[in-house]
Amino acid sequence: MKPNQVLDAIFLCDGVGLSCAMSARSGSGKTTLLTRLISDSVKEDRFKNQRFIYASMKQESMFDEKVPIVSDIPSLLKALKKNQIVTFYPTDADRYEQDIDELIEVIFSLSEENEDSGFHLTIDDANIMKGFSNRGQTSASVRKLVIAGRSKGIRSLLITHRLAMLPRMTNSNLSHLVLLSGNTTDSEYGKKVLGMDLENVIEELGDYRWAVVNLTTESIHRFAPV
Ligand SMILES: Nc1ncnc2c1ncn2[C@@H]1O[C@H](COP(=O)(O)OP(=O)(O)OP(=O)(O)O)[C@@H](O)[C@H]1O
Ligand SMILES: [Mg+2]
Repeated sequence: MKPNQVLDAIFLCDGVGLSCAMSARSGSGKTTLLTRLISDSVKEDRFKNQRFIYASMKQESMFDEKVPIVSDIPSLLKALKKNQIVTFYPTDADRYEQDIDELIEVIFSLSEENEDSGFHLTIDDANIMKGFSNRGQTSASVRKLVIAGRSKGIRSLLITHRLAMLPRMTNSNLSHLVLLSGNTTDSEYGKKVLGMDLENVIEELGDYRWAVVNLTTESIHRFAPV
């Protein structure tokens, strides 16, 4: 898999690709990698009808200053008219779930009004939200995003600190996993829940090396740090 193919595999809203997940330990380079991959995508012609919304629970953005940061829906809609990437900060820790639910519903409305456009939503540090655990129940909107997004031209990338923080319902609805440095609980989860042997690849990852796991073909592709 070439770096260019990674962009399609993870971000292209082509009605085929499912949601993806990126799971790796704190400080392993998730936000840095994600920022680089989205910035590379918007340089490509095939992404020109696509919008990228980056939701950061931690209110942190590594995009350059041209990418607007908004924290309410009207500002988001306005910013999306002129910008291909927009960062969204939920404001209040008590309302993370509601804010993200609202954001998801707005993206579904946008996709209905703009049938020829694709919408990609990244939720960074998604594990901060309720329901993000192996046994957790996510909100109806998050379920809709993961399960029904594809047919509407919507894709998502859920970023968590551990594989086991992915709610069970996502397991059968993900096309690719992006991994950076992890630990043994991630390998165990890979074996138990995803039925994949990730032990070797997880051991190799460190110093910002990363890998993409195609969950359909069970192939693993390794990459040098960005
Ligand atoms: N490819 C890289 N090369 C060199 N330094 C990197 C690379 N990726 C990340 N870093 C550095 O590592 C630190 C952590 O990166 P980053 O914030 O992207 O990690 P993270 O996994 O998103 O962390 P968290 O889980 O806390 O959100 C940053 O200081 C960043 O500059
Ligand atoms: Mg981060």
